Amino acid sequence: MRIAIYPGSFDPITNGHLDILNRATHLFDKVIIAVLSNPIKNCFFGVEERLELIKATTAEMPKVEVDSFDGLTVVYAVKQNASILIRGLRALSDFEHELQMAQANKSINPNIETIFLMCSLEYAYLSSSLVREISFLGGDISDVVPKCVNEYISKLREKRFTNDYK
Ligand code: COA
Repeated sequence: MRIAIYPGSFDPITNGHLDILNRATHLFDKVIIAVLSNPIKNCFFGVEERLELIKATTAEMPKVEVDSFDGLTVVYAVKQNASILIRGLRALSDFEHELQMAQANKSINPNIETIFLMCSLEYAYLSSSLVREISFLGGDISDVVPKCVNEYISKLREKRFTNDYK
């Protein structure tokens, strides 16, 4: 069984992530989307919120499992019997950071390979923080995030505005 890990912060999951995930399921028997839970990065959404949104998004994807992890990604991969890490590449600017991470991971565990999928053109500019910013400033994100994420963020936004004007 060929198992791949798709690690990331997913703060929140966007259609750009979903595009990569969906294409990875055509290449592997199982893809574990793994949410980083240690606080290297200050995330806006809590781990449980991010996991719930991913679970709702991937409910109809039988090859996908959703999990969280902390510590080293390659150590987590070994625990899951996975030998592949999937990463999406959006633009040239991603390359340097991704190359460094792939080489660091390789130096820690040479048996784990990183495979890069080029993101589809329509999502090349997307990032989770951009999605949050557009939405919280009143913009429409329905074309770039899964339905459940759009609804969840819209509710948060309404709550914030209701509290602001009380
Ligand atoms: N579509 C949309 N957005 C995308 C995307 C895509 N296809 N691919 C990347 N992004 C965006 C993300 O939304 C995120 O945006 P944000 O900064 O606005 O939140 C940004 O790109 C970074 O992606 P992220 O998945 O958060 O990657 P990262 O560079 O923070 O790395 C891990 C996350 C989990 C892979 C990395 O931190 C890690 O491996 N940590 C474990 C510790 C470890 O093993 N360290 C040694 C190896 S370096």
